[in-house]
Amino acid sequence: MAQTQTALPRVERKGLWDRIWEALDERLALHALAYPVPEYANTIPYVLGGITLVGFGVLFATGVLLTQFYHPHPDAAHDSVVYIITQAPFGDLIRSVHFWTANLVVITALLHMIRTYYTASFKRPRELNWLVGVGLLAITLGFVFTGTVLKWDQEASEALAHNKEIAEMLGVWGVWFSSEWTRSIPLLTRIYSTHITLLPFILLGLVAVHLFLIKMLKISPQPTKTARAGDSYPPGEKMARFDIHLRRMIGFGLILFAAIVILSFFVPAPLGLKAVPGEEVTKPPWMLLWLYPIEDVLGVGGIIYGGIAFFGLLALVPFIDRNLWLAPSKRRAMLIAGAVVLLVLAALIVYAFFTVPVTHTLEGVP
Ligand code: HEM
Repeated sequence: MAQTQTALPRVERKGLWDRIWEALDERLALHALAYPVPEYANTIPYVLGGITLVGFGVLFATGVLLTQFYHPHPDAAHDSVVYIITQAPFGDLIRSVHFWTANLVVITALLHMIRTYYTASFKRPRELNWLVGVGLLAITLGFVFTGTVLKWDQEASEALAHNKEIAEMLGVWGVWFSSEWTRSIPLLTRIYSTHITLLPFILLGLVAVHLFLIKMLKISPQPTKTARAGDSYPPGEKMARFDIHLRRMIGFGLILFAAIVILSFFVPAPLGLKAVPGEEVTKPPWMLLWLYPIEDVLGVGGIIYGGIAFFGLLALVPFIDRNLWLAPSKRRAMLIAGAVVLLVLAALIVYAFFTVPVTHTLEGVP
């Protein structure tokens, strides 16, 4: 008699990666990241903030490696940077990646700010998040300044001379930035602790608030002709998923990281000679260079006035542009004003780049 074959139920064989994913998902609820976001939120202009975040991740990682070899004392700092470049394993590469990523992060943060300005994303109900962004930009420039001092070369010593003079001008408000605050620890050492603890803590706090507000308020609607501040997405808006946004942000971030590693091989981060006290012959890095011509005219105080003017203007943006429309065609005056500010900044940087360095600080006066 012929045997009847009973079909066994097919057992789905899962690959290793599927099983790892499922185990992680079960414990970390990763599927919750697949919530809906508008499709345009996954395009490059809307991923610039995320790329900046990835850049900060690279800065943290390379920064931690650099601290293993950096010596934050005026007598040893420059030599320790030379040690990093010449002796520490991959030291020159890690330092250069840190340096170039810092440059990139300033560029992507500025482009991200320009995007949010153009799309009027600072309007109701996102005014506070714009202000948090202004704080993030200030902290980013704070990193650039303190990082410049840490190399302890000629440029660094001149930057510190500016720091001291501004501290004196600010009187009681500047005492924390002065050598007088504590005589037992050199100012360079305190600037180091600011660079590796205080600024990262403030940055993390601001980033947490920034991301929380984006999650709660959702990404701003597209600035179409009819879109108004406070509107939700129009019916028929094409939706995608946030996990795609995350993948794009990490993907673009990694491509830029690879480009920076290649750049770092060919163009290592610069380091000047040990400082000659009392000399003033260098200029600040490009991110702070726009302040240089202002200083030419107003002296060191120009840094305070220029800084207050720039950040004050940025902070006022949501309170000046109060019309409800999001479309660029209905906000022409604001867009022209923004373009003028950008052009002035660019012109100041180019002018400062080509002028001969001059003495601004009293320490620099022979
Ligand atoms: C410097 C570090 C910064 C980081 C890491 C960061 C990160 C982000 C991220 C991840 C987003 C989500 C959307 C996107 O990527 O475009 C975002 C949105 C936003 N950011 Fe930033 N940001 C920074 C600086 C700034 C600055 C300087 C401003 C403006 C002054 C700003 C204002 C905003 C606003 C208003 C939104 C909401 C955009 C919308 O709803 O369309 N951010 N930020």
